[in-house]
Amino acid sequence: MEVGVNPFPLTFAVHFLGIASIAMVFVWTIHYLGGLAWNSSDKSLLFNVHPVFMQIGLIVIGGEAIISYKSLPLEKEVKKVIHLVLHAIALILGIVGTYAIFLYHDEKDIVNLYSFHSWIGIAAIVLYGVQWIYGFVIFMYPGGDPCLRSVSMPWHIVFGLMVYVMVVAAAVLGYLEKLTFLENKGLAKFGSQAYLVNFTSVVTVLFAVLVVFCAVTSPPAPAYEDYAPI
Ligand code: HEM
Ligand code: HEM
Repeated sequence: MEVGVNPFPLTFAVHFLGIASIAMVFVWTIHYLGGLAWNSSDKSLLFNVHPVFMQIGLIVIGGEAIISYKSLPLEKEVKKVIHLVLHAIALILGIVGTYAIFLYHDEKDIVNLYSFHSWIGIAAIVLYGVQWIYGFVIFMYPGGDPCLRSVSMPWHIVFGLMVYVMVVAAAVLGYLEKLTFLENKGLAKFGSQAYLVNFTSVVTVLFAVLVVFCAVTSPPAPAYEDYAPI
């Protein structure tokens, strides 16, 4: 099931929104929240590693991996390697970002996995890992037989998009949750920081909508020019 629209021009909008969302999360964590650090007496700097790694990794690099078949004018086999490598980078950054938040919770004596954000987030990461391993084994090495590959492909696409939607849901819930914590401590609800965090969610959702749109569209088949009615 593919819509007959050429997605290539739209992929430029995807790149732009992805870069904008990364810039926004850096301005938030560095300018407003004091920066990023793995080892610091100020543990909030360790927290800041979490949104930055999740946004760059699973959201932006993961989204770019999905649209790589539509955004790159290269051979199919080359795009396959780029697709799997970008997904691997996204997954690794996602795992490091998740490790950072568990470490932060341990150091601050905060319980783990108590929120819907954390449940959907951990489920999304596990399923992302499963999707990567299945994709690698069936489509790359050692590779399934042609019948299994063609049966698996629609499942790979649908399951991949579902997992990606879960990742995006986790991220926007994360922004909302952290902003609510800050507002409960007195942050102005209509202040610049609140707008920045909410608009980071807006840009993230727009990015993800275009990623999914690019994945389900492909250039229309060429019309037969020499066709003439009998
Ligand atoms: C791909 C996106 C994301 C995933 C998969 C994810 C995953 C997780 C997980 C598994 C936890 C639980 C850690 C623990 O219980 O020790 C967590 C906590 C947290 N995350 Fe995220 N996260 C994502 C993005 C974000 C973003 C963008 C923010 C924005 C600030 C954020 C804010 C938080 C906060 C405030 C917590 C601590 C409170 C809680 O456990 O709900 N997350 N995240
Ligand atoms: C978590 C990791 C992965 C996710 C979320 C994912 C997701 C997707 C999605 C959404 C598509 C459809 C793209 C489109 O039609 O434009 C796709 C296509 C594809 N993926 Fe993956 N993928 C992942 C990992 C892998 C891996 C490791 C391989 C191994 C080679 C792989 C091989 C392929 C192939 C061959 C296609 C078909 C492209 C085509 O014929 O148009 N994927 N993937």
